[in-house]
Amino acid sequence: MSESKGQFNSNFGFIMASVGSAVGLGNLWGFPYKMGTSGGGAFLLLYVIVVIFVGFAVTLGEFTIGRKAGKGVIEAYKMIGKNYAIVGVFAIIAAISLLSFYCTLGAYCMKYFASNFVAIFTHGGIFEADATQYFNDFISNGGVVVAFTAIFCILNLVIIMGGVSGGIEKFTTIAMPALFIMLIIVIIKSISLPGSSAGLEFMFKPDMSVFAGTGWISILATAGGQVFFSLSLGMAAMITYGSYLSKKESLVKNSIIVPVADSLVAIMAGLAVMPAVFAMGLEPAGGPGLLFITLQTVFNDMGAVGPIFGFVLYFLVFIAAITSSISVLEGVSSAWIDAKVAKGQDYSRKKITSIVTGAVFILNLPTSLDALGGGSLPQPLGFCWLDFYDLLAEGILMPLGSLIMVIIIGYKLHMDWMAEEIELEGNKMGAKGFWNFCYKVTAPIGMLFILVGQIDSFFKLGIFS
Ligand code: PHE
Repeated sequence: MSESKGQFNSNFGFIMASVGSAVGLGNLWGFPYKMGTSGGGAFLLLYVIVVIFVGFAVTLGEFTIGRKAGKGVIEAYKMIGKNYAIVGVFAIIAAISLLSFYCTLGAYCMKYFASNFVAIFTHGGIFEADATQYFNDFISNGGVVVAFTAIFCILNLVIIMGGVSGGIEKFTTIAMPALFIMLIIVIIKSISLPGSSAGLEFMFKPDMSVFAGTGWISILATAGGQVFFSLSLGMAAMITYGSYLSKKESLVKNSIIVPVADSLVAIMAGLAVMPAVFAMGLEPAGGPGLLFITLQTVFNDMGAVGPIFGFVLYFLVFIAAITSSISVLEGVSSAWIDAKVAKGQDYSRKKITSIVTGAVFILNLPTSLDALGGGSLPQPLGFCWLDFYDLLAEGILMPLGSLIMVIIIGYKLHMDWMAEEIELEGNKMGAKGFWNFCYKVTAPIGMLFILVGQIDSFFKLGIFS
């Protein structure tokens, strides 16, 4: 017998799950560094503009399509038209590619919160090697990374097996407020360190000179790519969560709350990270280097309290990662479930989620064994495995899928189609002119620009520099 797919119990639960999806490694290791190196306050200005004219509309589009269809991503696009199923297929391939590196990174976070936890009781003994050495030793120990990846995947599975309200909603309504509190604790510590103001200056001081000449184009591409990845758009996640939202709730309100909350957490991540980095006299960085080397150095240099703050920070990053990965796993599983339902077949949620998670674990093996390209595995197209999977997802399929989606909404479905779903149960779709302008003009141009910008940055083509 097939079970029903379930729904979020409350709008708060929906928001926590969606913000949980949006807030991830992108906020913590992407945003602070990009903001700092791309003009500080000037970057923030462009970021906000992209959120308003592209981010809100793409989010609203995904929530609306999802809720209207009440189905996973492939069946949802089929509802629009048979030929559009391909956009759903793109989303699924993007989702699987993303998971194929994201789970390994989740495993890194687990290793680090576990090590810092142990260090609390062993007076930091395990970090005697310097942080770079420690990180390199860890990532080149394939067996350990694979074991942590397996644990990370199993935890994901346990959560999504619990279903939408009993698993995802229950977990995220506890985990996201906890993440917020932990972030505040780390911010307070970070900005109270002597010398932290240099970090605030790095992050926030507006440097308008970055806009000079054609400079603004490359900053816009960086900001656009960041907004887009950070909001978990262009894959199965948000459409699927939308499909579990009650018809009573306001889609417009939620499509504004989620991006705003995600942007706030990104700024807060900068406040947590950069002041501490500068206070310790370290160089700012982005990516894994920031998270696992620079920050661990900060904790190593902090003395006895270092491992406590290290534990809190890495636990927080782990929560950010797992609340993102469950949204993607759910998106893939839900698409499969609905394909079965459409064929009139029975399904077992437990079986489907287990197979999807198992496949994701196997696809993570090259990433886990690759030591970020430092191992002996062959490198696809000259990329390390993490970057290769990321290229497929973030570089190509996610922006391409979203580009097609906004064009479909702007030029085929139109605002009345959107309003039909949005205005159910007495809700209003205000500012239709604004949304129409976004779907017809700013979102397609923005998404095209982001797509080209992503390909440019992966292949270092120099189009925008
Ligand atoms: N938004 C997540 C982050 O910032 C990444 C993500 C993308 C998660 C797409 C789910 C879907 O890290």
